[in-house]
Amino acid sequence: MAEIDAVIRERLHSDVVLVRQVAEYIVNSGGKRLRPALVALTAKALGYQGRQHYELAAVVEFIHTATLLHDDVVDASELRRGRDTANALFGNAASVLVGDFLYSRAFQMMVSVQDMRVMEILSDATNVIAEGEVLQLMNCNDPDISVEDYLRVIRYKTAKLFEAATQLGAVISKANPEVEQALATYGMHLGTAFQLIDDVLDYSGDSSQTGKNVGDDLAEGKPTLPLLYAMSHGSQDQAQLIRTAIENGNADHFQAIQDIIRETGALDHTRRQAETEAKIAEAAISVLPDSEYKRALIELSAFAVSRDH
Ligand code: IPE
Ligand code: IPE
Ligand code: MG
Ligand code: MG
Repeated sequence: MAEIDAVIRERLHSDVVLVRQVAEYIVNSGGKRLRPALVALTAKALGYQGRQHYELAAVVEFIHTATLLHDDVVDASELRRGRDTANALFGNAASVLVGDFLYSRAFQMMVSVQDMRVMEILSDATNVIAEGEVLQLMNCNDPDISVEDYLRVIRYKTAKLFEAATQLGAVISKANPEVEQALATYGMHLGTAFQLIDDVLDYSGDSSQTGKNVGDDLAEGKPTLPLLYAMSHGSQDQAQLIRTAIENGNADHFQAIQDIIRETGALDHTRRQAETEAKIAEAAISVLPDSEYKRALIELSAFAVSRDH
């Protein structure tokens, strides 16, 4: 991981002061670096001996970081990784524009790898993430969206990049199509589990652990699974309180809604759903030979569900 961090730091260069300030601010703020770890672990689990995984791991982290800069503007979030968001500190315009810088830097780096499949996977993933964020925007303030609609959003906005990361490990290792598909499946289900838990933590997390404020999703009127489940399993009054909060996109009744979510078992339900996804992910990589890297991938699937940060 030290090598990946070195590439990340090295590739951040720019002559433009504000680009450097914002990019370094977010990149050096201590993210979990989960997606780059997936590129490296999957490649290593398949016996990869080259160096492309460092560059591609950094590419994936830059794409992730760009989505965070944009996402915090869209979600009007004020806390990320335990500090002020870039938008809170530098403003929305700087965040959006430096997000674009990071996206395009990621594309410069991926071209340097000179592999058409790699470019295909990463450009498709980036495009799908954008669609996911737009789909989510369309679902905001709409309490009538279905669980299927919600799952589509999280597959697109989050799981797709996990899928790309694990698929890249297979592609650079020249794995056969079945193994590549198995790793893609692992990434997709791992990412889905990860976002399900993110949506749990938005109601039950400890902000000193997650580094983010709780209640952001409610304030934006995001119909996530904890709310969808609580609406369909609560009393009429309880469902109505949640409907109105989603429609208005405000967190005025956050505590009452937290209580309803707990009382209806909505958080446990969402956690169980995440567990199911993590199990599918784990089963998909049974094709890999045993190694410390495979064991780390299995541990990551457990972490996606048990995490508190
Ligand atoms: C945050 O991702 C965005 C989601 C997809 C939930 P992470 O929780 O991986 O963020 P960092 O990089 O560790 O801060
Ligand atoms: C994250 O969704 C998805 C992307 C950044 C593309 P969220 O909005 O749930 O992520 P957090 O909670 O802000 O990290
Ligand atoms: Mg957000
Ligand atoms: Mg969230």
